[in-house]
Amino acid sequence: MVSTLGGLQRYFRVILLLLLALTLLVLARFLLTDLELVTPLFGGQAKGPPVTNIMFLKTHKTASSTVLNILYRFAETHNLSVALPAGLHVHLGYPRLFLARYVEGVELQQHFNIMCNHLRFNLPEVQKVMPNNTFYFSILRNPVFQLESSFIYYKTYTPAFLRAPSLDAFLASPRTFYNDSRLLKNVYAKNNMWFDFGFDPNAPREEGYVRARIAEVERRFQLVLIAEHLDESLVLLRRRLRWALDDVVAFRINARSARSVTRLAPETRERARSWCALDWRLYEHFNRSLWGQLRAELGPRRLRGEVERLRARRRELATLCLQDGGEPKNRTQIRDLRLRPYQSGRADILGYNLRPGLDNQTLRVCQRLVMPELQYMAHLYALQFPEKPRKNIPFLGE
Ligand SMILES: *[C@@H]1O[C@H](CO)[C@@H](O)[C@H](O)[C@H]1NC(C)=O
Ligand SMILES: *[C@@H]1O[C@H](CO)[C@@H](O)[C@H](O)[C@H]1NC(C)=O
Ligand SMILES: *[C@@H]1O[C@H](CO)[C@@H](O)[C@H](O)[C@H]1NC(C)=O
Ligand SMILES: *[C@@H]1O[C@H](CO)[C@@H](O)[C@H](O)[C@H]1NC(C)=O
Ligand SMILES: *[C@@H]1O[C@H](CO)[C@@H](O)[C@H](O)[C@H]1NC(C)=O
Ligand SMILES: *[C@@H]1O[C@H](CO)[C@@H](O)[C@H](O)[C@H]1NC(C)=O
Repeated sequence: MVSTLGGLQRYFRVILLLLLALTLLVLARFLLTDLELVTPLFGGQAKGPPVTNIMFLKTHKTASSTVLNILYRFAETHNLSVALPAGLHVHLGYPRLFLARYVEGVELQQHFNIMCNHLRFNLPEVQKVMPNNTFYFSILRNPVFQLESSFIYYKTYTPAFLRAPSLDAFLASPRTFYNDSRLLKNVYAKNNMWFDFGFDPNAPREEGYVRARIAEVERRFQLVLIAEHLDESLVLLRRRLRWALDDVVAFRINARSARSVTRLAPETRERARSWCALDWRLYEHFNRSLWGQLRAELGPRRLRGEVERLRARRRELATLCLQDGGEPKNRTQIRDLRLRPYQSGRADILGYNLRPGLDNQTLRVCQRLVMPELQYMAHLYALQFPEKPRKNIPFLGE
């Protein structure tokens, strides 16, 4: 009896020791992971002050409005200058090639910190506005979904889409609807991302030409985000810019309601890929490149940790700021006109309602997170050029 009891005691002691060891192990791993996350500088490489000179090539229908919100917020909270469209314009000359004179105040101020509004890329002119040490980045989306989104959004604007009853019909015989010689009106209908980078969307898909253009983008742009992997992309962006976590946390801006997203037949997807073959090559290249960099710089475990941290913080901010747990709202549901996004074509563009009763400081943080891009641009313009007439956002009814 006694010896059995002693045996049991020994047995429990061993279990207790094992549990203790296990706890220590878990704790150590937690602390280490935490340390690694808190100090991204730990892995070497990312040292120095945050990057503040940035050029973002804002491509169309690629989640780029979400990235724009990130840049506008950073500019506003750090008092940085933004290269905004001159006068009452809302684009930097798009779809014409960018010229420095499309920027407000360019004649007075040699250089700006941040450039991020829609433009067609033209490096020599961009360099007249941006400092030499500017960080260049952009974003691409799977061209099949990019085209699907364009079709709905620019349905009533683009001649090639105007007469096409559906994207299926358009892609079944695009030449019936699309006319090369009306390029500037039809930019949304073919290789639109290729066009935004300053290239010819109607160029033949010749291997040497395609490779040379991709190499050009590679030389100039330090990073190309991928919309399908936005959170992973933002983790890498934050690392490159040496920014705080909250700087890159954003809600989805300008998303469409489920009703305005079309499911495409498999043959339509195949046709979209070959109709936008130049975009497809660009996308494939930079998707591979993004994942190559993620693997090389973070590895899968650390990437998972950082993506989870980003998502957790987004959920936290959604709980703090947004009504109904952050469920996006359509235009009739958004009560505050200043938070109502611009509507276009056949798309319902969604936005957010803020929780009532926020204190002033929280309210300011939350408003910045949900402010639609036209309103935000008008707001920054008024701050930067208080003596100029306000940008007129007609649908606000001001
Ligand atoms: C912001 O920058 C402008 C000019 O660059 C300067 O006049 C102003 O004092 C700055 N404001 C703050 C709060 O730093
Ligand atoms: C930026 O580059 C241009 C052309 O290479 C050069 O003329 C200019 O001095 C540089 N400016 C700075 C601030 O380095
Ligand atoms: C394309 O547009 C040009 C100029 O508007 C016109 O002259 C030409 O006939 C059009 N071609 C087709 C195939 O519609
Ligand atoms: C993009 O890269 C990821 C990771 O390698 C891969 O899973 C995915 O299939 C790629 N997408 C395309 C369209 O190539
Ligand atoms: C907005 O959403 C509400 C609730 O889902 C719906 O009843 C209404 O028809 C929608 N309005 C528009 C313009 O889509
Ligand atoms: C909050 O902002 C409103 C309007 O700007 C102002 O009237 C009020 O005094 C502010 N409250 C606090 C506590 O700062």
